[in-house]
Amino acid sequence: MVFFICVLFIILSVGVRWTPYFSSISIFPSPNGASSNYRISCVDILHSIVYKDRPECVGCTKSWSWMQSSPVAKCEFKKLEQPDASVMLNRSWVVFAGDSQTRLGMLSMLKLVEVPERVRIVKEQLKKLKTDYSTYIDSIGMKLDFKWKPYARRLTKLMLEFKKNEKYPDIIVMGAGLWDMLYENNASDYDVSLRSLRNSLQDLNSKDGKVPHLFWLAMPTLINSKLTSEDKRHNLTEPRRIRYDNKVNESKILNKFGGPLLKLDIHYLSELCGPQCTKDGLHYDDVVYDIAVQIMLNAVLIESTHKPPF
Ligand SMILES: *[C@@H]1O[C@H](CO)[C@@H](O)[C@H](O)[C@H]1NC(C)=O
Ligand SMILES: *[C@@H]1O[C@H](CO)[C@@H](O)[C@H](O)[C@H]1NC(C)=O
Ligand SMILES: *[C@@H]1O[C@H](CO)[C@@H](O)[C@H](O)[C@H]1NC(C)=O
Ligand SMILES: *[C@@H]1O[C@H](CO)[C@@H](O)[C@H](O)[C@H]1NC(C)=O
Repeated sequence: MVFFICVLFIILSVGVRWTPYFSSISIFPSPNGASSNYRISCVDILHSIVYKDRPECVGCTKSWSWMQSSPVAKCEFKKLEQPDASVMLNRSWVVFAGDSQTRLGMLSMLKLVEVPERVRIVKEQLKKLKTDYSTYIDSIGMKLDFKWKPYARRLTKLMLEFKKNEKYPDIIVMGAGLWDMLYENNASDYDVSLRSLRNSLQDLNSKDGKVPHLFWLAMPTLINSKLTSEDKRHNLTEPRRIRYDNKVNESKILNKFGGPLLKLDIHYLSELCGPQCTKDGLHYDDVVYDIAVQIMLNAVLIESTHKPPF
């Protein structure tokens, strides 16, 4: 309930207008001349961002914004900064589960609620460690977890644990695929894992009727020539990524295909940023994951105008 009230507060305080058209806006009249308009959902165009180079500063990461043109401008997406994020995430429980891509997402989230020095230390700590991480942000009573689940089937296990306890985070961001590609090398196995993940995500109602906001953090664009080992260059190719990504589509876990997860399209965001945004062909500059987190939070705000998040 607290989380819900805070979300409402954010919607008002960041100036997002509460109107019936907020998450569904007209773009152009229907071709048959009827009075009904095509409507597009703001959720569908959340990824409409542009990067801006900073030519005055060599080596700086890019800045970004949402497109300024209609229909994106009409959705009034907001980049949440620390004060608003703190209000929104007050007393919430957020879980990131997956591989190192998802961990970068968690670090972007941490940046929104923690002081820079603390973020730097955690980042350094987690760099090479393949472990879970959990923190409690005292000032806002927020719990932020990272669960190291590099294989898709481990995500299913995590969901079953939540289910058993009938206690869910407010937000779950998950993503896995690169390890399946690199070490398992069996796309049908990945397919099976994703389908069981989808099954595990059904009926996620907790005791208090709280339903988590669910996200899928997609695989990045792979720059083969920059990958750092022979195994990676051999197994992490773009054609294979596409094959695996196709399994994600076919498994119907994404809401575009009738599933429960909203995709945070790291592939698109990383491709748009370009090869200069990655050193190892796999892990991109923070800006890519910062955007994904902003998209995620805006999606939560949109969803919360129609139904309470709990
Ligand atoms: C968080 O919630 C508590 C209790 O509802 C409130 O006292 C506090 O001011 C909130 N903090 C922020 C940053 O909104
Ligand atoms: C790949 O996975 C499928 C489904 O789990 C399994 O039936 C098949 O035997 C596996 N193939 C290989 C080569 O291991
Ligand atoms: C990854 O690539 C290497 C070749 O570089 C190969 O020997 C290995 O079997 C591959 N891994 C898998 C799981 O296919
Ligand atoms: C998966 O679906 C999305 C959305 O429809 C599409 O853009 C993407 O190309 C699909 N991926 C593959 C590998 O077909």
